Amino acid sequence: MIKLKYKKWLDKNIPDLTGKKIIITGCNSGIGFYTCLNLAYKNATIIMACRNLNKALDAKNKILEILPNACLDILLLDVSSLSSIDNFINEYVSKYQSFDVLINNAGVYHLKQTYTNDGYELVMTTNYLGAYYLTNKILPYRNKDKESRIVFTTSIASKWAKIDYNDFFLKNNYKTMKIYANSKLAISRYMIYLANKEIDNLKVVASHPGISSTNLLDPNKGGVSRWFSKLGNLFLKIFTHNANKASLSSVYVASSNKVNNKDLYGPRGLFEISGYPKLRKFSKLAYQDLDKHIMFSNDLLHFDN
Ligand SMILES: NC(=O)c1ccc[n+]([C@@H]2O[C@H](COP(=O)([O-])OP(=O)(O)OC[C@H]3O[C@@H](n4cnc5c(N)ncnc54)[C@H](OP(=O)(O)O)[C@@H]3O)[C@@H](O)[C@H]2O)c1
Repeated sequence: MIKLKYKKWLDKNIPDLTGKKIIITGCNSGIGFYTCLNLAYKNATIIMACRNLNKALDAKNKILEILPNACLDILLLDVSSLSSIDNFINEYVSKYQSFDVLINNAGVYHLKQTYTNDGYELVMTTNYLGAYYLTNKILPYRNKDKESRIVFTTSIASKWAKIDYNDFFLKNNYKTMKIYANSKLAISRYMIYLANKEIDNLKVVASHPGISSTNLLDPNKGGVSRWFSKLGNLFLKIFTHNANKASLSSVYVASSNKVNNKDLYGPRGLFEISGYPKLRKFSKLAYQDLDKHIMFSNDLLHFDN
């Protein structure tokens, strides 16, 4: 049952967000859904950027049952497709002109090795390249008169990553865990690179949700069997926190006045797995090869940046 479970925490830690236009990618389920619910509770206008309009409408209706006055709009976005990102930006800008916060939340884990129509591996594209492309392209439309924010969603898995730029998509040695970890290290490197630019009136921040049972292990996505998914989710439900609490790190970095440029927030509990948000540190890996990483990404996307 969906509930506004953390009202007290939200009232204490999150300012009123009336008038703020917040884009959240992939927010029809899991952590993104609760990020949407919790920010809508604080009166933000939320643009739900989702690839499946039916699922998004269902999610919107669930939020409206709890918050009938919530300001929620749905726009189509598939972050694994460059043309979909271009279309989304055109539609968004013609409707809203500017944005205050972009939360790059959409993500996938554990898929079969698949390539997108643009020719890139799907996990790396959804979790990193798409967010890179979207952020770069939409950045000029931030609200320049006030402070705006870009939020990236990383993971503790990034600590075990190892990116080889000669085999960025693990073409001949594909491992689901490895490509996921690498995609989260890639997004962390981009976040630090962008934050280091110290752009006027822009905070570039990151969150990681710890661990939570969501649709990431959905067997219909092809990467895991039904048994693995059932057992995995049961384990996560018992030993980790729920998606609503897991969303609070994103909610916090997207809106708290106490958050600074380049901050990373994640759960405060043991091994950063669960709990309320706390300031966290990236691993040393995230600070390495920043210029190389950006040059490589621009080359890959044929992106003149
Ligand atoms: N759960 C965890 O333990 C955990 C840990 C660390 C980091 N994270 C990160 O948290 C974020 C949210 O994941 P979650 O756990 O909430 O999983 P989830 O329930 O599976 O939610 C993922 C969301 O992303 C959307 N999405 C996937 N591919 C997309 C695409 N190409 N374009 C647009 N939207 C797309 C999904 O939409 P569909 O419903 O259409 O698939 C869904 O709404 C991800 O970035 C994930 O890597 C999660």
